[in-house]
Amino acid sequence: MRPQPDRVIATRPVRPAFERAEKRLWFRDDRFGTAFFNAYLLLLCDEFEFVAIVRRYLADVSDPALKAQLKGWLGQEAAHGVQHRKACVHLDRVGLRYRGYHKVLSFVVFRVLFALMSRRLRIAVIAALEHLNTMLGEMCLRKVDYFGDSDAELSLLLRWHFAEEIEHRAVIHDVAEALRVGYVMRVLAGGLAYLLYTGILMATTVWLLLQNFDWCRPSTYWRLLRFAFVDERFVQYSLAYARDYLAPSFHPLGRDCDRYAAPVFAQIASPRH
Ligand SMILES: [Fe+2]
Ligand SMILES: [Fe+2]
Repeated sequence: MRPQPDRVIATRPVRPAFERAEKRLWFRDDRFGTAFFNAYLLLLCDEFEFVAIVRRYLADVSDPALKAQLKGWLGQEAAHGVQHRKACVHLDRVGLRYRGYHKVLSFVVFRVLFALMSRRLRIAVIAALEHLNTMLGEMCLRKVDYFGDSDAELSLLLRWHFAEEIEHRAVIHDVAEALRVGYVMRVLAGGLAYLLYTGILMATTVWLLLQNFDWCRPSTYWRLLRFAFVDERFVQYSLAYARDYLAPSFHPLGRDCDRYAAPVFAQIASPRH
């Protein structure tokens, strides 16, 4: 039995004006933070790939409530993909090179790795990636002024995206459960997803830092340490989310994080059903 079958997943017409984003260090003048969120901005252009993969599971979902949520999920992720691609205009403006790197990465991940997975492992890995998206969302939205002193348009993209990741956090998990993904496969998929996601996110952050000599500055490494243990507490969150995930009774809605998304939804445009 799924909790909250009446939960509505709706798309919101959010269209940041990326042409207004001009500052290179747009995230609080923070070299590491800007590179990290630029990496996230770039990697999440690939939401279209996930939409294309997950659409093939629609026919397997017989529960009408879950099917409606899955259609809502497809709509939200497609909208994220559109806006992330538009946001790349900012990476171009500040002179970052990313196209070749991104092309190779996408090929390896989607045409090789995902293509090699079984149908059930593929949905289990996407469910685990959603758990990590929820973690990033909670990590960044738990302080309401986290994106204060940052570029308004790029912050809007991330706040909206993280809030919707929190909102739809259970959908793919429920689809995987409907496809009878068991505990062992869930745990294997979780380990694989964590290595893949954090590895690629950090490698892309480094690739972007290398382009501006930001990697030579001690303050970049100091901020990385603070990101890991003190400010965002990436390591502590990873452990807490892993503990939740490894519980046999795990369900994404068991974690009370809707309260971090609610203030964002209250500020942005109303949803389209
Ligand atoms: Fe998304
Ligand atoms: Fe998502």
